[in-house]
Amino acid sequence: MLSIWVSIAAFTHLIAASVLHAPPQVRVTVDPQTCVEEQKYIGVNDKTGVYSNACAQVVDACLAQNGTSIWSHQPCVAAATCQGTWSVITLNQCQNPNVLAAGDIPNLAFTIYTNIVGSCAPDGCPMTQQNYIDFIYGAMSAANVVDWPGSVNDVITQWWQPILDWTATGDTIPYTNFNDWLHWSNS
Ligand SMILES: *[C@@H]1O[C@H](CO)[C@@H](O)[C@H](O)[C@H]1NC(C)=O
Repeated sequence: MLSIWVSIAAFTHLIAASVLHAPPQVRVTVDPQTCVEEQKYIGVNDKTGVYSNACAQVVDACLAQNGTSIWSHQPCVAAATCQGTWSVITLNQCQNPNVLAAGDIPNLAFTIYTNIVGSCAPDGCPMTQQNYIDFIYGAMSAANVVDWPGSVNDVITQWWQPILDWTATGDTIPYTNFNDWLHWSNS
């Protein structure tokens, strides 16, 4: 009997502890000057500094959604891949105070991942280079891009390859690693 009560007490304590010590969801107030500057750099890749008008339009399509759970918005996921995660997150935080710090933003919507890889998503299939190409061209088309990337090789080397380099998962990228990249790459 005593052991039951001890267990219940321990369990209750565990619940109380996890509620009390749940990590805070961090709200971010971006310095207004940074917001003004980031507006000017829309379409400029965070890491390479290369400007793409097509990417700028995808970023604009993302911002137009003014979402909070930004990785549930297809243009925002696409924008992160061409512009970089840091500025896409920052620009969203600038316009919407409910967008949490990078690591606290809700996970990549599985429906978006399924749209990228197809019906094998629930079986855990990774995103291939061709999946990514189809996804980013689809996002550019949805954003009514007129000034398309010069060639698909540019898309591969400038946008796809850096993600592969970060995830280090070979030639393809599983859901978890892509989701990690969105949250933690600071790219
Ligand atoms: C975006 O949403 C936030 C929070 O609801 C709101 O304060 C802000 O005015 C919106 N911005 C735009 C550009 O619609």
